[in-house]
Amino acid sequence: MGREITIKVLKYNPTDSQSTPTFVEYTLEETPGMTLYIALTKIKSSIDHDLTSDFVCRAGICGACGMLVNGKPQLACRTLTSDFEGGKIELLPLPTFKLIKDLSVDTGAWMEKMSLRVHSWIEKHEETDLAKLEKRVEPAVADEVFELDRCIECGICVASCSTAIMREDFVGAVGLNRVARFSIDPHDTRTDEDFYELIGDDDGIFGCMSLMACEDHCPKNLSLQSKIAYMRRKLVMS
Ligand code: SF4
Ligand code: FES
Repeated sequence: MGREITIKVLKYNPTDSQSTPTFVEYTLEETPGMTLYIALTKIKSSIDHDLTSDFVCRAGICGACGMLVNGKPQLACRTLTSDFEGGKIELLPLPTFKLIKDLSVDTGAWMEKMSLRVHSWIEKHEETDLAKLEKRVEPAVADEVFELDRCIECGICVASCSTAIMREDFVGAVGLNRVARFSIDPHDTRTDEDFYELIGDDDGIFGCMSLMACEDHCPKNLSLQSKIAYMRRKLVMS
């Protein structure tokens, strides 16, 4: 028989005028290898059918299950309940994003706004000649691009960031990482001046206060701070 754990969740439905933010405590038996995904699924199926949280992949890939776990932003599907010695876990929705209900937030709308702001797509100054062979990309450069493309848009770096919490339009480490990705990609012919036009302000590259929380919490271990420093140096010198 496993130990008894207590999961306390802040429940609130902003679309229901009768709803007020309230902590609700659930007690359940821990099973071997139990993640917060498993625990929440158990609560939803047998204790509280109304509890809302997001999961898709259960494997740290879709980025849907970010939440504050005892105050720290992390992926619920990659968090073992056994990591919490006293068996007491408090869950809140990620800050910064629009709350949908309980633990569910709208990271999609935030990511779309950021993507539009940083022009998160390949841009070319010249016309593509379809008759020509594609240019060769050096494997080391392709690896560098793939490394930055590992971002799963979970929003954990944004929820960890004091600037993003204070400044609504800040593109966050995820946005600056995206710009770094396109600036490295040889398919993209934008210059440093073009990127400066997009992010050369306090909502972009100069908004970061180098507090490092984005990198400390990123579940994909992306080296966000060194990429921000790299972009800042590059753009200041452009
Ligand atoms: S950079 Fe890391 S923390 Fe931020 S959205 Fe991407 S995967 Fe999540
Ligand atoms: S459910 Fe996909 S990352 Fe957690």
